[in-house]
Amino acid sequence: MFSGKKVLITAGPTYEPLDPVRFIGNHSTGKMGFALARCLAEAGAEVSLVSGPTALTLDHALVHITPVMTADEMFAACAKVAPEADLWIFAAAVADYKPKDTATSKIKKSDASFTIELVKNVDIAATLGQQKREDQFAVGFALETDQELENARGKLLKKKLDMVVLNSLRDPGAGFKHDTNKITIVKAASVEEYALKNKDEVAQDILESIKAEWACLQKK
Ligand code: CTP
Repeated sequence: MFSGKKVLITAGPTYEPLDPVRFIGNHSTGKMGFALARCLAEAGAEVSLVSGPTALTLDHALVHITPVMTADEMFAACAKVAPEADLWIFAAAVADYKPKDTATSKIKKSDASFTIELVKNVDIAATLGQQKREDQFAVGFALETDQELENARGKLLKKKLDMVVLNSLRDPGAGFKHDTNKITIVKAASVEEYALKNKDEVAQDILESIKAEWACLQKK
């Protein structure tokens, strides 16, 4: 099913600069997005991987990596590829906010306290979701601590996603800093729970689940 398909994947964190030497970021390693890119390329898909700063590398003829730093850069890179892509996977941990201003020189220490004004970043998944066609399939990720299912279902609707891969922070071994992940896949009409597995196995489970749902949607 994936052979010859064009896939857009976002991965890793975004870094939102405060000045030339400092940024606001998060602990995402990019492992989940890179594992999905590898599996899809091995299945014959042509993958555009738009990745925030990560230590990972991936050398595959079918994977084209666009390295980016900020959410704005990630959005610009995705917007170029999204219309042509059959499948969108938003695995990046995009910073929700960015500093309102970025200093051009290093900010010097002065007062006892220092306040940074933050403004909302573009929501890449939601913004692209507005132009999503019926023949395109979109997958989002969500890391929740409370009311996981309700929040995941909210994201399906808000971001026009066909499925949400939910990581619960309550599960030991799941999330950002681990090589393993424990996921629940939430779709409009079903909820699938999986055991704790390494991220390559999780990637396979996600792809199987995409296959099943996408096949159903295509029959409609
Ligand atoms: N996402 C995105 N752009 C953003 C924020 C999130 O594309 N600016 C994508 C993520 O890659 C993920 C999904 O949206 O696939 C959900 O991200 P999450 O941070 O859980 O959602 P938010 O809408 O930011 O909600 P919350 O208030 O729970 O942080």
